[in-house]
Amino acid sequence: MHDIIKRLDEKRAAARLGGGQKRIDAQHAKGKLSARERIELLLDPDSFEEWDMFVEHRCTDFGMDGQKIPGDGVVTGYGTINGRLVFLFSQDFTVFGGALSEAHAEKICKVMDHAMKAGAPVIGLNDSGGARIQEGVASLGGYADVFQRNVLASGVVPQISMIMGPCAGGAVYSPAMTDFIFMVKDSSYMFVTGPEVVKTVTHEEVTAEELGGALTHSTRSGVADLAFENDVEALMMLRRLISFLPANNREKPPRVPTEDPASRADLSLDTLVPDNPNQPYDIKELILKTLDENDFFELGPEYAKNIVTGFGRMNGSTVGIVANQPMVLAGCLDIRSSIKGARFVRFCDAFNIPVVTFVDVPGFLPGTAQEYGGIIRHGAKLLYAYAECTVPKVTVITRKAYGGAYDVMSSKHLRGDVNFAWPSAEIAVMGPKGAVEIIFRKDIGDAQKIADRTQEYKAKFANPFVAGARGFIDDVIMPHETRARICRSLAMLKDKKLENPWRKHGNIPL
Ligand code: HXC
Repeated sequence: MHDIIKRLDEKRAAARLGGGQKRIDAQHAKGKLSARERIELLLDPDSFEEWDMFVEHRCTDFGMDGQKIPGDGVVTGYGTINGRLVFLFSQDFTVFGGALSEAHAEKICKVMDHAMKAGAPVIGLNDSGGARIQEGVASLGGYADVFQRNVLASGVVPQISMIMGPCAGGAVYSPAMTDFIFMVKDSSYMFVTGPEVVKTVTHEEVTAEELGGALTHSTRSGVADLAFENDVEALMMLRRLISFLPANNREKPPRVPTEDPASRADLSLDTLVPDNPNQPYDIKELILKTLDENDFFELGPEYAKNIVTGFGRMNGSTVGIVANQPMVLAGCLDIRSSIKGARFVRFCDAFNIPVVTFVDVPGFLPGTAQEYGGIIRHGAKLLYAYAECTVPKVTVITRKAYGGAYDVMSSKHLRGDVNFAWPSAEIAVMGPKGAVEIIFRKDIGDAQKIADRTQEYKAKFANPFVAGARGFIDDVIMPHETRARICRSLAMLKDKKLENPWRKHGNIPL
């Protein structure tokens, strides 16, 4: 017995030390925390329950039988964030570069399986050189076992990936199938093929950071939702994200009591929309002034900025915000913003989070780049996402709602539950100038006639009344009462029930 306890202590100490102090120091020198330090920061104090500390790899080739470190390069288990259960794995770069062996994959699969049974989020802290090269196909099989679980967990429990070191090759596809990807600047990267292979195949010279660093993925590719300065900031923000999410798809989002009155009016909103319809304004001002305590957790702030997405709370409960941003591309929908919006709406729908949509959209972005890039299929993603979405949907048209984009942006026709318009709303097939130039083409040489016709068109359509007359909007509200009216609508929709017809799955235009 005494011997066993002694061996237990030794094994625990070995597992805690991972690849050794020298490698931990090297990790620190790169500005990175160790796998265990990250867990300590992420979870509530003393809440971590570790599993599989004694798991070892089974590889005997290349002298591996002589190199076994208990835990095998990944720390796994469960704990709490603000008292709420989460499962997690944290790859330990000090052990074989965090490379994934068959046994390492089994540990990850175990926490994923438990997360599904318990109905709690899975968090992956990724810091790995990829497949454990010495193990060959056993390691590839391990990855595929994780991928399969990622897919089965999708829409059942939230899955969040934090990239805190290398993530290359097929290994990127596990994070890619999770709901959110956060990255740390300067110390993490993700790519399918690294700079060397890129150079050989395409003769492009590119650094790992340029090819797949946090800035690349949070601004250019849209693969990452957010990029942070360092491990500590990233982990704190992950705690914050979790605070908005339900634990699983059967739960309602958590409530956080607020002192902010649901009826709070904000008179400054009455002058938010400029008189000149071509002048932009910042839709984030409306978002911040509408949400509880002006608190908005934005996702993808540096990517497809013409649409704004993120979480906030209204009267204590989580809502997802989707808003056109007139400051960027006049708020037009394009390929990137459609995909960004669609993914977000689908997440909210999967996890019972009501969607609040602020609309100021002049239409889809014209041009060959968009058409050749497939705006037809990609724009349809947002349309599809809103149309299949059954959670409460409250929409506020602040200014333009033109053409197909009017339909797409959570319109009444796509089962918008409550659709408001501000007095400044213009709901029509297109803007007055474009409309007059088409329907009165023969008068184009006559400036006076065109001006008169434009005025006539404006008077008829550049207002919320035509849509109001058909019941396409439920009410015209003053901007200052936006928060109160949305809160009241969400309270009314609290127990909304709506189901789509049974099917194996729809065929979203991917
Ligand atoms: C086994 C690995 C490893 C791996 C790193 N190590 N990657 N061991 N399998 N995949 C070991 C190194 O041998 C080294 O051990 C230690 O981890 C630290 O690695 P370094 O190279 O010293 O660190 P660094 O200079 O920071 O470089 C990190 C790295 C590099 C960029 C990740 O190690 C690297 O390029 N590794 C190989 C990456 C790779 O090609 N992986 C396979 C990708 S394909 P010692 O003992 O010397 O300290 C893939 C397929 C997945 O993953 C398919 C899923 C379908």
